[in-house]
Amino acid sequence: MLPIVKVALPAADELMPALEKTLYSGQIAEGEQVYEFEKQFSEKFNIKNVLAMSSGTAALHAALKLCGVEPGDEVISTPMTAEPTNLSILYCGAKVVWADIDPQLGGMDPESVRSKITDKTKAILCVHYAGYPVNLAELKSIANQHGIPLIEDCAHALGALYAGKHVGLVGDYAIYSFQAIKHMTTIDGGVLAMANPEKMEEAKKFRWFGMLKGVPRTEVNISSVGYKYNMNNVVATIGQIQLRNIENVLQRHIENGKYFDEMFAKVAGVDFAKCDANAEPSYWLYTLLSDESEDLEKALNAAGISASKLHRPNNYHSIFDGSKTDLPGLDKFYKRLLHLPCGWWVSDEDRALIVETVKKG
Ligand SMILES: Cc1ncc(COP(=O)(O)O)c(C=O)c1O
Repeated sequence: MLPIVKVALPAADELMPALEKTLYSGQIAEGEQVYEFEKQFSEKFNIKNVLAMSSGTAALHAALKLCGVEPGDEVISTPMTAEPTNLSILYCGAKVVWADIDPQLGGMDPESVRSKITDKTKAILCVHYAGYPVNLAELKSIANQHGIPLIEDCAHALGALYAGKHVGLVGDYAIYSFQAIKHMTTIDGGVLAMANPEKMEEAKKFRWFGMLKGVPRTEVNISSVGYKYNMNNVVATIGQIQLRNIENVLQRHIENGKYFDEMFAKVAGVDFAKCDANAEPSYWLYTLLSDESEDLEKALNAAGISASKLHRPNNYHSIFDGSKTDLPGLDKFYKRLLHLPCGWWVSDEDRALIVETVKKG
């Protein structure tokens, strides 16, 4: 079967010497390799004020806390995402308020967000689902109008652009994930980015037990709760090697995604996700939309292609029962959704077979 997601690791002769060097350097916890990874990530994607974290989930928790989200507050979020997006809101003791999603995109509908704002709203958390950027211009304008911070969950969207810049640069905070099956993996890991450099110190303390590195342990004073959310040198070494080749990986996702857009535009009865004109997706997964999604899934599976939905809308979980509301946009999108493999492992022959199979229906 052609898999829908696949782990991308660098060639052993590139990765192993670097890994071995770090492993036996005597410095395997957070240190120079982590700071070097942060520098390289920042330069590669032109994203300032970045902190390497143990996971994307840790970065989400940090972003929400830096926005001042406390028990009893509300965070407007999307149900069409992986669960960590919304569990991180519960970590803060806050209430998830669902915005509906744009059924043609899979991301938050800005008008729904506007209608959900109350005086308890502490943050808006959007997700560039499957690598397709949401309408950031609208969301940022709503956020600014109400003085509420915007967080971008870019876990699926490394390499996606909005208004010509990498996603994560419009919001007040952005998070990236390097979990096993993402565009780029460090096994587990993440990055937290923030627009305001003055927040860096607070973020560093949150990342590591409420302490700053470099201050002698016998002199440091912990005055706020911090977690063990730091990246370590071993993980950061994998990240550095991954960054060398990341353009090629991203490029193939994008090439395949654009190919599918072009081909499916000519096929009757199928549709696909569409962003606003400012956005350039990085197609972590390809988002096909069809009223016949179940039949297409069967036909593709029979042809040796694993195509499916990947996530359960988070509002279906009973832990979020307190947030129940009607979400017609979500229901429509989810019913019609079929993810197709789109990444670096999908060859020209594979993608042609996918299109042929969908055409036959
Ligand atoms: C949309 C989304 N946000 C956040 C996360 C959390 O990232 P991590 O697994 O690195 O904690 C994931 C997935 O893993 C995700 O898919």
